Amino acid sequence: MRALLVYYSRTGHTRKIAEEITKELQCDMDEIIDTVNRSGAGGFMTCGRQATKKELTKILPPKKDPSQYDVVIIGTPVWALTMSSPVRTYIVENKDKLKKVAFFITFGGFGAESTFHDLEDLCGKAASGTLAINTPSLKEGNYLDGVKQFSEIIKGLQ
Ligand SMILES: Cc1cc2nc3c(=O)[nH]c(=O)nc-3n(C[C@H](O)[C@H](O)[C@H](O)COP(=O)(O)O)c2cc1C
Repeated sequence: MRALLVYYSRTGHTRKIAEEITKELQCDMDEIIDTVNRSGAGGFMTCGRQATKKELTKILPPKKDPSQYDVVIIGTPVWALTMSSPVRTYIVENKDKLKKVAFFITFGGFGAESTFHDLEDLCGKAASGTLAINTPSLKEGNYLDGVKQFSEIIKGLQ
């Protein structure tokens, strides 16, 4: 099973989990690079507004072709109870190239179910696996068991 992990991270939480999963799976990784300045309070507001309105943004072309992989693992922070707009944009632009999909999210502590629902809906596919890591778990370093369990599910896909 050839796996690709793609993720977007604004402040590093999702990147941390992306790196741990990639280490477990020894798979390829591709970061979604957004072209919007999202720093500071203004940037935060832009994130919230775009996510709420389900707006797309402008991302750089991916370095890896998702159609070359059996499963694409997509990682996003939760923004306003849904996926981040760079991840929404990636899915819209690459939807036809996705075979199996699995999702992981990082979040403060609310909105996991709605985010997974929106991700499945946008991909038009049920998730082959999901992983949600909240901020307290990230801060306490209490996420490796979850990462391992999620990675085992991906390894077990046919
Ligand atoms: C605009 C915005 C909206 C957010 N909305 C939520 C939310 O609805 N629920 C939640 O639990 N966390 C929310 N968060 C917190 C992030 O999901 C969380 O800090 C995440 O781990 C950040 O990931 P990153 O460091 O990879 O960018 C929000 C953060 C931002 C910037």
